[in-house]
Amino acid sequence: MARLEGKVAMVTGAASGIGRASALRFAEDGAAVMCADRDLAGAQHTAALVAERGGSAAALELDVIDSAAVEAALRQTSSELGGLHIVFNNAGVGGGGLGWDKVIAINQTGVYNGLYHGCRMLAESGGGVVVSTASIAGLVALIGVTTDPLNMEYGNGAYQASKGAVVQLTRQFAVSFAKHNVRVNAVAPGYIYTPMTQPMRDVEGAEQFLANLHPMGRLGQPEEIANAAAFLASDEASFITGVTLPVDGGYTAR
Ligand SMILES: NC(=O)c1ccc[n+]([C@@H]2O[C@H](COP(=O)([O-])OP(=O)(O)OC[C@H]3O[C@@H](n4cnc5c(N)ncnc54)[C@H](O)[C@@H]3O)[C@@H](O)[C@H]2O)c1
Repeated sequence: MARLEGKVAMVTGAASGIGRASALRFAEDGAAVMCADRDLAGAQHTAALVAERGGSAAALELDVIDSAAVEAALRQTSSELGGLHIVFNNAGVGGGGLGWDKVIAINQTGVYNGLYHGCRMLAESGGGVVVSTASIAGLVALIGVTTDPLNMEYGNGAYQASKGAVVQLTRQFAVSFAKHNVRVNAVAPGYIYTPMTQPMRDVEGAEQFLANLHPMGRLGQPEEIANAAAFLASDEASFITGVTLPVDGGYTAR
């Protein structure tokens, strides 16, 4: 039996990159998937890709900074797809130029909204799993991101702060909900080939520089994060909770 057979998952940020790859992975593993994103057309495209491959999916428009909208999206997922077992809080933005408040609102408050409503709903229905997308930036300091710290723009560091918060929220919700049969984990990707890293990779020499930061000497593919998220979401990870799993080619191992 496929490892997510009979499960229903909501994936945020499902219109692109890691979220799209995860929606496809979860569906291949047997789950029905609600593709949620503020980019509705992109989310619908992901749902169509799932259907093309014989899977079951739907799409909805969601801005994760809106707490009430996150709760409503989880309820819609449950009523439309026949239950709720997995919540993947993956939507996020890169730090560059967005400012402190915006990055914290999406990457930190957005994940908090998914944890708060997701854990409570899953607990009420007998249990489930929440996975969130942190980052190596939530585990270690990055290098090479700011070349001249004296010219650092205000708000730089918000991405790191938001991802550190995801790591700590993962621990807290895991402990709080452990007795309610809800497991809570996160993945911490290294640099991945998605639209988010495209502007960075477009700078001459930057892709090789970033690749060299990973002991494996390359960037990751979104499918490699999706595989880890699907594992954490499955019963194969039945005794794993409160963990942030680096999926980073060894980036944080040194
Ligand atoms: N790409 C990397 O190298 C990398 C590394 C570490 C962590 N991450 C994290 O992985 C996650 C996915 O990033 P990605 O690389 O796939 O990027 P991406 O830009 O390809 O996809 C992000 C998706 O999130 C959606 N989104 C953004 N803000 C939203 C909001 N407020 N509400 C709902 N949806 C929203 C976007 O519309 C987009 O579809 C993010 O949390 C990111 O921080 C990415």
